[in-house]
Amino acid sequence: MQSAEGMKVRIAGSTLELVIGDIALQKMDVVVNAANNQLAGGGGVDGAIHRGGGPAIMEETRQKYPRGCPTGEAVISGAGQLAARYVVHTVGPVWGGGQGREEEQLASAYRRSLEVVIENGCSSAAFPSLSTGAYRYPFDLAARCALSTVMAFLKETGKPEWVRFVLFDESAYSAFSVALTDLLSDEIG
Ligand code: APR
Repeated sequence: MQSAEGMKVRIAGSTLELVIGDIALQKMDVVVNAANNQLAGGGGVDGAIHRGGGPAIMEETRQKYPRGCPTGEAVISGAGQLAARYVVHTVGPVWGGGQGREEEQLASAYRRSLEVVIENGCSSAAFPSLSTGAYRYPFDLAARCALSTVMAFLKETGKPEWVRFVLFDESAYSAFSVALTDLLSDEIG
């Protein structure tokens, strides 16, 4: 299950994978961007995707989505010079202590992204850990929400075929691998 390449499990016929890496370099049908409501670009994941993809991505999102993207929603564009075919731009919540709708909004960002992936006929998608950088969502809570949402979606729909979480460093990878192991053992136990 665990190897130098990361951790890979089968969920209802699909593959769910955890790796350490750079989201902008993934050769998947879709890479998911951790965007903001204005789709204005930024640092972190957003910076890496727009730097790697070039200006075509922002030109397209400005034209197609002039009003941006609400929190918990997702929109799609081409991927410019990235190795992926499309970018799905989603907006996770800003962590405000957990008393608001953060968990619901984070789950919605993953779910809506997956819906957009399959509506566009794509079978593989790479996600970063949404909201855990500039938006300060605690990693362990975010990992559990991300994985349980994606696992439930795969079980419900049987799609897409392949979901990869691309974690930026060892500690992010470790939070996700602990959460995945816990969720899988909850299922068995
Ligand atoms: N590949 C994979 N993961 C990355 C990369 C990368 N190239 N760069 C950063 N990360 C990790 C961060 O370490 C963090 O754990 O992705 C996670 C999400 O961090 P952010 O990119 O800051 O996303 P988020 O917390 O959702 O904040 C979104 O930040 O860049 C702005 O425009 C963006 O306003 C929006 C906000």
